[in-house]
Amino acid sequence: MIGKLNHVAIAVPDLAAACAQYRDTLGATVSAPADEPDHGVTVVFVELPNTKIELLHPLGANSPIAPFLERNPSGGVHHICYEVADILDARDKLKAKGARVLGDGEPKIGAHGKPVLFLHPKDFCGTLVELEQA
Ligand code: CO
Repeated sequence: MIGKLNHVAIAVPDLAAACAQYRDTLGATVSAPADEPDHGVTVVFVELPNTKIELLHPLGANSPIAPFLERNPSGGVHHICYEVADILDARDKLKAKGARVLGDGEPKIGAHGKPVLFLHPKDFCGTLVELEQA
């Protein structure tokens, strides 16, 4: 069912420092920061030949990644995103196998303008999984 790895998202406490590290130390192509108020994050995209890294930084008072950074003050891998061809079909098949979909179970438009869903980390090896309709 799952296809390509779309991105790995890393929550970071200092976005400028993380950008400098990926751009200057690792030599990657790094985008300008983009505020995503609907998701409570500022996102920087790191383009790699085969996938992307998303650097996430809290935006606003109720950012969903703020508790994660409180538990992981130096940052850490927050989620991984797999592509699926049909997100509603994927959701229904996963729910039928007992996987928990977060929120109200309806896809939301993600950082790339495409529908996304999140799956409960306890059902997937302790990893928060995002599905994005490719
Ligand atoms: Co993501």
